[in-house]
Amino acid sequence: MGVSLSYVLLVLLLLWPLVESQSGSEFKSARALDALLQDYAYRAFVIPKTGVSFNGVVPKNLTGIKISALRLRGGSMFTRGVPTYKEFRIPTGIIEHPYVERLVLVYQNLGNWSTTYYPLPGYMYLAPMLGLLAYDASDLSAKNLPELDIQASEEAISIHFGQVKPVPDGLKPKCVSLDLHGRVNFTNVVSGNRCSTFKQGHFSIVVKSTAPPAPLPPSTSESVPRPSHEGGGNHSRVWAIVSSAVGGCALLVLLALLVLWIRGYKRRKKMHKMERTADAGEALHMTTVGSSKAPAAMVTRTQPTLESEHAP
Ligand SMILES: *[C@@H]1O[C@H](CO)[C@@H](O)[C@H](O)[C@H]1NC(C)=O
Ligand SMILES: *[C@@H]1O[C@H](CO)[C@@H](O)[C@H](O)[C@H]1NC(C)=O
Ligand SMILES: *[C@@H]1O[C@H](CO)[C@@H](O)[C@H](O)[C@H]1NC(C)=O
Repeated sequence: MGVSLSYVLLVLLLLWPLVESQSGSEFKSARALDALLQDYAYRAFVIPKTGVSFNGVVPKNLTGIKISALRLRGGSMFTRGVPTYKEFRIPTGIIEHPYVERLVLVYQNLGNWSTTYYPLPGYMYLAPMLGLLAYDASDLSAKNLPELDIQASEEAISIHFGQVKPVPDGLKPKCVSLDLHGRVNFTNVVSGNRCSTFKQGHFSIVVKSTAPPAPLPPSTSESVPRPSHEGGGNHSRVWAIVSSAVGGCALLVLLALLVLWIRGYKRRKKMHKMERTADAGEALHMTTVGSSKAPAAMVTRTQPTLESEHAP
């Protein structure tokens, strides 16, 4: 029983990366960025003052990303909220888990890095990816802090995007949100530039990219420059190929494991049977070898040979 359970767990473990998200490695780099930006945002607190937001400075290799940090008392998230924090309007009734005395809300505006860290094949960004993440404020020099879980219990947190690129004709913009596990959710945009959320995470406004689903026949006149987001389509095709290859490999590994397990199981069953027969036939005399006991009668008996060990 224990063996089969561990095999089920192994199977889940192997399949997990495929279930979790279609772009695990990209999401990992986004989470590494969250950790880096937490560190740099905390450095903005030269004179830590509660309730005042401080803009941080990102390392040179990430120029274009904007960050801020706002320190609050834990309880004030519930009783007062934050009427405006950059694009975010945080209502009263926010609950944090675990509860901390003071917390920091780190704000991220990924600017021109949005597609680098959050590639969404088949979609085009109309606004920068914004992030809102909560951390414990008890140590302002801490790195790699886990996020606190914040949850709006009454009204939703709303996000008023500043400049939204014009929507291409005939397309409907969508709010996109990614939670801290990489789960993507699309909702409707309100009043042209507003999105809402009940949780922390990353948010933007996107539109389905108009890239053709299949490559165009080469005969058509190609003098008109193709839209730049055409690459997105290629990207998603590459992804489809890569992920199906990975999936195929995982399946093969699983199959191999299953075969090995069945063979092992059969052998164990046979050995159990032999042991039971042996036990019933004669009680082994135990003798002390070193510190452990061993059956002493072994040599006097005809030993059962394990066929499976010699079987091809
Ligand atoms: C950018 O630079 C910082 C500080 O030098 C470094 O810790 C970080 O790994 C770099 N990040 C990327 C994405 O290159
Ligand atoms: C974003 O813009 C900055 C300059 O404002 C540039 O240094 C950086 O390389 C750009 N990032 C990307 C991913 O293009
Ligand atoms: C997506 O967002 C909507 C609206 O906030 C919510 O009701 C729904 O549960 C979310 N779905 C997922 C999978 O998170």
